[in-house]
Amino acid sequence: MLDVSDLHQYYGGSHILRGVSLAARPGEVTALLGRNGVGKTTLLRCLMGLVPARSGAVAWSGERLDGRRPEERVARGFGYVPQGREIFPRLTVEENLRVGAATRTSDAIPPSIGELFPALKAMRSRRGGDLSGGQQQQLAIGRALMGAPKLLILDEPTEGIQPSIIEEIGRVIRRLAKEQGLAVLLVEQYYDFAKRLADTYAVMSRGEIVASGPASAMDARDVRALITL
Ligand SMILES: Nc1ncnc2c1ncn2[C@@H]1O[C@H](COP(=O)(O)OP(=O)(O)OP(=O)(O)O)[C@@H](O)[C@H]1O
Ligand SMILES: [Mg+2]
Repeated sequence: MLDVSDLHQYYGGSHILRGVSLAARPGEVTALLGRNGVGKTTLLRCLMGLVPARSGAVAWSGERLDGRRPEERVARGFGYVPQGREIFPRLTVEENLRVGAATRTSDAIPPSIGELFPALKAMRSRRGGDLSGGQQQQLAIGRALMGAPKLLILDEPTEGIQPSIIEEIGRVIRRLAKEQGLAVLLVEQYYDFAKRLADTYAVMSRGEIVASGPASAMDARDVRALITL
């Protein structure tokens, strides 16, 4: 289980994360919602070790990982799908996937990735930059899965993507949690998508968690008021 406690982070003099505590359990989707600019991506970057936290703890299965380099966190089972996908446009689908195997001994693409994303399998020789936004998002998820993660962290996977592919991505996220037992931490601003997928939710506002609980108890009016302007 991912256990984040009392995380603080600053950009210069700005106090961005103000004591964030959060958990994500295997087999569950934990949705983190919040308006633009409240610190969601900053939190994920701290979890991955891409930016240093000032204080607080990040633990996986009881082992402290704060202070560790990003690749050590990937080797411990953290998989990251960054906001905006950040695939390599000039590399092929297959090459983009192999980038995700950098911390492993083999870069063979497991058949399970082709099963989850048949569209990618059909387009393996196409350049990443020639894919649609939704296909690029699937590629970014596939790349994270190449590291065989136990925790999958996704930053707004529905942003700028057409509804039919949003549905497909939702089904994959659900399967990864329910069939493969991954802990999924899903940052989302799209309330309905989060509500459909989540087992647990948390809402962030100005660097703090201001509401959380089981997704069944997530109240549309309350949460929407916290995440829309
Ligand atoms: N590299 C940086 N240097 C300085 N300030 C930053 C940097 N990155 C983000 N910020 C600021 O930190 C705050 C939190 O940004 P962050 O990207 O974490 O928000 P977010 O919740 O992910 O927003 P969005 O929903 O738009 O993706 C914002 O005020 C942002 O302007
Ligand atoms: Mg963000």
